[in-house]
Amino acid sequence: MATSLTTSPAEAAAHLRRGELVAFPTETVYGLGADALQPDAVRRIFEAKGRPADNPLIVHVCRREQIKQVAARVPPAGQQLLNEFVPGPLTLILPKHDHLPSVVTAGLETVGVRIPRLSQTQSFLEACGTPVPAPSANQSGRPSPTSWEAVEDDLGGRIDCILRGGRTDAGVESTVVDCTTDPVAVLRPGAIPVESLRQVLGTVQGASPEGEAAPRSPGTRHRHYAPSARVRLVDTPSEVAPGEDHAYVGLDAPAQACALGRVHVEEDVQAYAHDLFHIFRTCDEKEIEVIYAQTVSAEGMGRALNDRLRRAAAR
Ligand code: TXA
Ligand code: MG
Repeated sequence: MATSLTTSPAEAAAHLRRGELVAFPTETVYGLGADALQPDAVRRIFEAKGRPADNPLIVHVCRREQIKQVAARVPPAGQQLLNEFVPGPLTLILPKHDHLPSVVTAGLETVGVRIPRLSQTQSFLEACGTPVPAPSANQSGRPSPTSWEAVEDDLGGRIDCILRGGRTDAGVESTVVDCTTDPVAVLRPGAIPVESLRQVLGTVQGASPEGEAAPRSPGTRHRHYAPSARVRLVDTPSEVAPGEDHAYVGLDAPAQACALGRVHVEEDVQAYAHDLFHIFRTCDEKEIEVIYAQTVSAEGMGRALNDRLRRAAAR
């Protein structure tokens, strides 16, 4: 199959309405979408990615009124989060609407709903005129794509269309919050820090102190975000072993930079998160064997970053 490239949201949406698979940018990472109401098209998302069938998809809509097409109701805490953070990099887990095909939610009685903030995404979703379930547009297990080129590398020839946009802004995925419990619970730390959620709601069940998300989100059980290179976590760059096929990424500069194949010193946690998946992919292209990655302090976006680093290193 030839994968067509376009910068036109209307053209990309026309593919999706025909039952085809379309990758599109958001403010977090690129997603791989289909029409929620065409179950065969949704099934093809799982095939194209090699995604386990028990891992539910997040449904993307462009307007709040559309939430009632996919969710049975929005509990009060969910409404507060909607008012404060949406559109944005937040996914609300809500009770599922009966009419939503069960392939979208992998048979669960709940559905993840997200309204992205990026204007190109909004134009695309508006032109689709239907809810769009979309996981990250990578081969299952690989780092999420933060550029259209990364989508093409992973899924070119397996999907119908890529809506071309720029590098994504956040670089890590949305924060997933279960709004069916009281208090609500963070199932996956992401681009909106848990501290910001607490400022609005008071109590929010967080990921545990080690940064491990509560195990209710099926996807967090699966292997994730891993480059081909091995990832080793370090507290400081002094733990890095020299080597031509070794790379380092972190906030502190290593003393022995010239003894390494690649070195990425990041300005701050935001920049680190923005660049991480891109760096993983670049290191694979350069046939780096080991990537040393510095962990950061577990606050704000640092929680999501540490979570992705730990998962990349766990294999
Ligand atoms: O930023 C993002 O969230 C991106 C962009 C494309 O929107 N999407 C994304 O999707 O990261 P994906 O499929 O790679 O990750 C979705 C996560 C998985 O861990 C999945 O298990 C969880 O959300 N999830 C989806 N629906 C759920 C549900 N009903 N209950 C619990 N967890 C759910
Ligand atoms: Mg993913």
